[in-house]
Amino acid sequence: MTARAYGKINLHLGVGDPGTDGYHPLVSVFAALGCAETVTLALAAEDSVTVGGRYAEAGVPTNRTNLALAAVRAFRERTGWDARVSIHIDKQVPVAGGMGGGSADAAAALRAAAALAGFEDATVLREIAATLGADVPFALRGGVALGRGRGDELTPVLAKGTQHWVLATSTGSLSTPVVYRRLDELRAEAASTAQGAAEAAEVLSGTAQLRLAEPTAVLAALASGSTELLAAAVHNDMTPAAVDLLPDVAHVMDQGRRAGALAVLLSGSGPTVGFLAQNPTHSLELAVLLEASRGVRRVARTTGPARGAHLVE
Ligand code: C5P
Repeated sequence: MTARAYGKINLHLGVGDPGTDGYHPLVSVFAALGCAETVTLALAAEDSVTVGGRYAEAGVPTNRTNLALAAVRAFRERTGWDARVSIHIDKQVPVAGGMGGGSADAAAALRAAAALAGFEDATVLREIAATLGADVPFALRGGVALGRGRGDELTPVLAKGTQHWVLATSTGSLSTPVVYRRLDELRAEAASTAQGAAEAAEVLSGTAQLRLAEPTAVLAALASGSTELLAAAVHNDMTPAAVDLLPDVAHVMDQGRRAGALAVLLSGSGPTVGFLAQNPTHSLELAVLLEASRGVRRVARTTGPARGAHLVE
């Protein structure tokens, strides 16, 4: 049984201060992009995981920490299904890139496990998804959605048109919790400097209240279908922290600006950067220029929005 789910970019990512559970309250506009993770499950004597595809090399665990296997185990625990499975993942989403590839693996594995088990309760699948990671419910659902809470409380967003993106991965990788922690540190440092809150607010994107405000400009741009309006509205609070940890990210972003991208946007906690293009020709031009840039590891062209996790014939 084979299922597919997609990576995402956050068209808006506002990050608040962490709560007592260590998680940061978010306001996020997720958009699924056309790079797919394809997960195949087959009944077997014991559980196993193998990984192939464009991004297979980069340290994807094949033990219990693999999110597709974690998804199958969570599905078994919740539903009482007791089969063992071999799992094969074809990775077309960058690993540890901020695009939710691991979350897409989990969503596709859930969809495939449910089909193998003949299980059809979508509400329970969504509940299992939320226990697996903050981005898994979105990977299950796809399209464009506004996320609150940890990012897992989703409401649909009206989005017209197709966006053309070029994605560039850096020569380094970033761990999501490390980037969140660095953001907290940078904000604490900025708040305690003598220059005071005004400068800090500018560098680190507004007051605590503003950070979790409704992303009205992005929502309006999506409703209008205007790529130019969207380009002017996209925003990611995580950018200063990712750039601080991996300065090459700033260089990659600059290269895209110079090459004429309509918008340059860090994807989630990075280091993958998304470059918004006017149309397919523009996206091809951007991709060619970025491929020759220092600090760029790989370049991929894609479009959004893409759909949610679904079975593949
Ligand atoms: O939920 P997920 O496993 O994707 O999150 C990975 C880590 O990122 C969490 O353990 C947490 O440290 C951090 N995180 C956070 N606030 C969020 C989402 C994730 O601090 N809203």
